[in-house]
Amino acid sequence: MKDIKYYLAPMEGITGYIYRNAVHDHFGENIAKYFTPFLVVHEKRAMSNKEIREILPENNKGINLIPQILTDDAEGFGRVERALHEYGYTEVNLNLGCPSKTVATKGRGSGFLKRTEKLDDFLYRIFENRKCDISIKTRIGESDVSEYEGLLEIFNKYPVKELIVHPRVRYEYYKGQPHRDIFCKYAVKSAATLCYNGDVFSKSDVDEIIDHSADKVSAIMTGRGMIADPSLIRVLNGGRPYTNDELKEFLKRITEDYTAAFKADRPVLQKMKELWSYMGQGFPKRPAAVKELLKCRTLQEYKMLEMQILG
Ligand SMILES: Cc1cc2nc3c(=O)[nH]c(=O)nc-3n(C[C@H](O)[C@H](O)[C@H](O)COP(=O)(O)O)c2cc1C
Repeated sequence: MKDIKYYLAPMEGITGYIYRNAVHDHFGENIAKYFTPFLVVHEKRAMSNKEIREILPENNKGINLIPQILTDDAEGFGRVERALHEYGYTEVNLNLGCPSKTVATKGRGSGFLKRTEKLDDFLYRIFENRKCDISIKTRIGESDVSEYEGLLEIFNKYPVKELIVHPRVRYEYYKGQPHRDIFCKYAVKSAATLCYNGDVFSKSDVDEIIDHSADKVSAIMTGRGMIADPSLIRVLNGGRPYTNDELKEFLKRITEDYTAAFKADRPVLQKMKELWSYMGQGFPKRPAAVKELLKCRTLQEYKMLEMQILG
């Protein structure tokens, strides 16, 4: 049986260092890599204060963290990469997947995938000048899955450390089924080792991917599945699902850490509600309380409802 590694996906607004540390301490035994939500390129400085907090080694102790960069500017990429190298990082990840309008219409993230000549030139430059290993997280096209083969030909020209593929095109956002068939069909054509990402919720999802991808997949990345069930990676590794007490402790830790960081209830409430918008599905016997929690207006109310749901 092949040894598969599991990664926590970057999710802007969710998997920041506070959440990441809580997952690492409570459910992290089998998580091989974590990725920061994307860092952007700034005019005058390498990173904003918020971004520095995200990547500071003392905020990520014991965590194998790969910072992710989102840009179409090779020089800017180099600036951020060099700053990250100075903080001790040896691998960075390039975001070629973000589907959001504000990003993609500027030709970044998945909006970069259609500009193949420019992308090729950008990759040439960042690999030529690299200080760190570079991995890529990509979609399989902007508007059509037929773009994927040509993209692989471009990626294959460079020593990509690892290719993480979310097999949807930009316009599919996160909806419908990922194109696992396309991912598997082209797995053998990738020079880089592959990490699969997209709608992994169970061991059978993992098996389906591994069994059909010609031994090219060495890792699985999960985002929404892990937010909905923080023990998912443990379970995929043959471990047990979370207990109620574990989940209570985990949420208590996150609430406390957000409270210490924000020093105000409102943003904490927002963060916790966002987590429950994924976790709520795990409590089909308490639909009314989950619905109420997602609408509640104070942190106090939230805590009461959380207690109602978890006991
Ligand atoms: C709210 C949200 C924020 C995200 N932020 C990022 C990001 O910063 N960088 C990135 O590469 N992908 C980002 N993604 C995409 C996820 O990393 C992942 O590719 C996607 O959710 C599909 O995987 P899943 O089905 O396991 O969730 C985001 C997704 C969501 C839903």
